[in-house]
Amino acid sequence: MLERIEKLRVAGTEAIVDASSSAELEELRVRFLGRKAELTQILRGIAQLPAAERGPVGGAANKARKELEALIEQSAERAGAAELDARLVADRVDVTLPGAPPRPLGHQHLIARTTRLIEDIMVGLGYEVAEGPEIEHDYYNFTALNHPADHPARMLQDTFYVRSHPDVLLRTHTSPMQIRAMETQGPPLFIVIPGKVYRRDSDATHSPMFHQMEGLAVAEGLTLADLQGTLLAMSRALFGDTREVRLRPHYFPFTEPSVEVDVSCFQCEGTGVLPGGGRCNLCKGQGWIEILGAGMVDPNVLGFVEDHGYDPERVQGFAFGLGIERVAMLRHSIPDLRRFFDNDVRMLEQFS
Ligand code: PHE
Repeated sequence: MLERIEKLRVAGTEAIVDASSSAELEELRVRFLGRKAELTQILRGIAQLPAAERGPVGGAANKARKELEALIEQSAERAGAAELDARLVADRVDVTLPGAPPRPLGHQHLIARTTRLIEDIMVGLGYEVAEGPEIEHDYYNFTALNHPADHPARMLQDTFYVRSHPDVLLRTHTSPMQIRAMETQGPPLFIVIPGKVYRRDSDATHSPMFHQMEGLAVAEGLTLADLQGTLLAMSRALFGDTREVRLRPHYFPFTEPSVEVDVSCFQCEGTGVLPGGGRCNLCKGQGWIEILGAGMVDPNVLGFVEDHGYDPERVQGFAFGLGIERVAMLRHSIPDLRRFFDNDVRMLEQFS
């Protein structure tokens, strides 16, 4: 038995000394010291040996075991260090090389750019930019904006409602933020509100989701002339210095009076006729292009925020709502609104 142990010790030592990788050493550890290894079996069988043999066999086997263990540990440490060195050399990267391949920078979507442009214009006029939720309460979208209970816009065929919450909907315009803004900030208030809005509508000029820019000004002594002047400044910044605006009577529940606003056509300079003769296709020969809805804030609307400092007898306001896709289509001669949302880079890259 002692001879057998000595043989195992010598065989193990030789194998370990010859081993060159930590994987090999791990194999040897299993082979010589693992659960099924002969040395382990011998140690386990000591109790069955005649009493006189137990001491010497146990001592020799334990000593062999310790020796092999220590040897494996030393060798593994050495192999591990060598392997790490090799890996460091193999994985070395030259951090001074330029990043490759260089990727072209992306750019803003035309809708985002148009939004920023209008914001910049209005910030230049002293307005602040505010944003609000797209999932809205019926109260903010309709009720506080003076819509009667049976107003057609409230019907299911025009508005997306949340089925489980009949008083929650996808906002149909950015106007609900008029109320939210007045609830949090007293007059004077000059804000623009960009954002997505949702309607059950879909064709070349309507998409179920589109973008609006709301404007709201409330202060003492504001009149329709202030609204007209503001829209004239905005229209000239967007469509050219020689533009004019025209107000036509219209109806919105939350403004009184309400108007639709046209800008003089920038393709035919408002004549309706192209330079070479022939009807202007942009304004359809009208000389005017409709761009937005607007009006003086209805005192009933201010009544909903009277507790927040908006006394309808003291302050007046005007508001407008502009379709951002429409502005982008006009500025860039884009024939179909759906192209904005196809995500075709050939279309999008034209506006970098
Ligand atoms: N919210 C109206 C719409 O979406 C536009 C509008 C805004 C009209 C502000 C008047 C004042 O049609």
